[in-house]
Amino acid sequence: MNRPAATVLMLILAGAALSSLAHADETAAERGYRFLTEKKYLPIDFDQQTFDDAWRSWPEPLRSQAEAASAEERREMAFSRYGLTARPGDDRNRPLQYVVDENGAWTMNCFACHGGKVAGKSIPGLTNSLFALQTLTEETRAAKLRLGKPMSRMDLATVLVPLGTTNGTTNAVMFGVLLLNYRDADLNFRLNRRIPPMTHHDMEPPPWWHLKKKKQIYIDGFAQKGARVMMQFMLVKENGPDDFRRWESDFQDVMAYVESLEAPQYPFEIDHVLAKKGEALFKQTCTKCHGEYGGEQETYPGRIVPIDEVDTDRARLDALSPEHRRRYAATWFAHYGEHRVVEDPGGYVAPPLDGVWASAPYFHNGSVPTLWHLLHASDRPRIWKRSENGYDRQKVGLEIETFEKLPPKLDGPQRRTYFNTERFGKSAAGHEFPEVLDEPEKQAVLEYLKTL
Ligand code: HEC
Ligand code: HEC
Repeated sequence: MNRPAATVLMLILAGAALSSLAHADETAAERGYRFLTEKKYLPIDFDQQTFDDAWRSWPEPLRSQAEAASAEERREMAFSRYGLTARPGDDRNRPLQYVVDENGAWTMNCFACHGGKVAGKSIPGLTNSLFALQTLTEETRAAKLRLGKPMSRMDLATVLVPLGTTNGTTNAVMFGVLLLNYRDADLNFRLNRRIPPMTHHDMEPPPWWHLKKKKQIYIDGFAQKGARVMMQFMLVKENGPDDFRRWESDFQDVMAYVESLEAPQYPFEIDHVLAKKGEALFKQTCTKCHGEYGGEQETYPGRIVPIDEVDTDRARLDALSPEHRRRYAATWFAHYGEHRVVEDPGGYVAPPLDGVWASAPYFHNGSVPTLWHLLHASDRPRIWKRSENGYDRQKVGLEIETFEKLPPKLDGPQRRTYFNTERFGKSAAGHEFPEVLDEPEKQAVLEYLKTL
């Protein structure tokens, strides 16, 4: 080998050694987190200039306040409006919910729905109960029109499918149905198919730290846990069948990350004597569905409870037809039928309750703002609006205001800050199991739930 070639080879080897060094002692879970926050699996949603211009679409007096504010304050206002949170430990002010590359391009990641905050603290893996996807999409689209920039997949998707009618909840399940409709079992495109039947409704995803206890995922337990099932979120037309296969190993790392997450501890005071009483009551009335917590005794039955028995909102259950479930079962995502798919679950799975203090609002549709309301079925508010960072330590959950009627003349973004249980798919009724307890017993169970 001649000298220059040898030098080049040395440089290449050194470069390779260096780049592998940078991530050398990374665990699979750390790699998974890095993929989620740094790697783009979707086309770009918008650029920095577009995001920084979105405030021009805000209503008064917000718009004038934004105009008078410094760039940093304006950015905080935008994060607050759209439900974005700081990425823990990041010194570049990037949001947890989007990959932001060196050129300032923003691409949505899984934390958009699966990374949120409680009592003002940002926690990756906690449901993003503040995410304002519809509002963010509408206002960045308006900014693109002002700035003469091209539209993205989300801008176009909204024409076909509503993204979410209450902040913190999205129509994600129906996007999945729509997108899978245009693929065959190997995920090749089949674009000539008809639009599938869809029942639009919004869901609030569960916190990720539950995943390690589950074998079947989703509120009705319909799909077997695995790396591939989580990749459905990437079924956009830019991603072909080969991309999914190429990225499968990334998602094994994402799975390792998700399964490494632990529920956060309740940060306020707990009355341990009362909680101990609550524990005994919980074991009598709740454990058969929700399992046992603490020490070596942890159990989790993962029981499907028939819809007529749990009696919570049934829109989500009915929206996924047996036909759709069968189609999913036949695809690469479900290992071509090798993975267990429940075609007719008939109800919802009682979720694990680890870290339940943090994951308000409750039920799969996010309709119940606090654990106190969960334990008092007849006192649940009809219409409620939460504060961004407040935490109700008495009722254990979101700090809210309640309303008998929706205030008049709300624009779309304002309306989406209210939870209206009278709308389709948003009922807060059902799950009357705690009603066998009297008031002091409910107080004790409430105290116990803080300890999980
Ligand atoms: C637009 C919002 C949204 C995005 C983005 C999103 N998800 Fe989800 N995710 C949901 C919703 C809603 C559910 C609940 C669906 C159900 O139960 O039917 C869910 C459920 C899940 C579950 C099952 C949890 C359980 O305990 O049953 C996993 C795992 C998951 N998502 C992983 C991911 C990963 C990984 C990504 C990124 C590739 C992602 N999600 C992106 C909304 C989203
Ligand atoms: C017969 C089974 C069953 C019993 C008994 C039961 N639950 Fe549940 N629970 C469920 C199901 C199913 C859900 C999910 C409902 C939904 O999301 O629509 C649920 C949801 C919940 C949630 C909301 C979780 C979340 O993250 O949204 C809490 C909290 C809860 N139950 C607490 C209790 C307590 C406390 C008791 C005992 C007093 C109890 N449950 C008894 C089946 C049960």
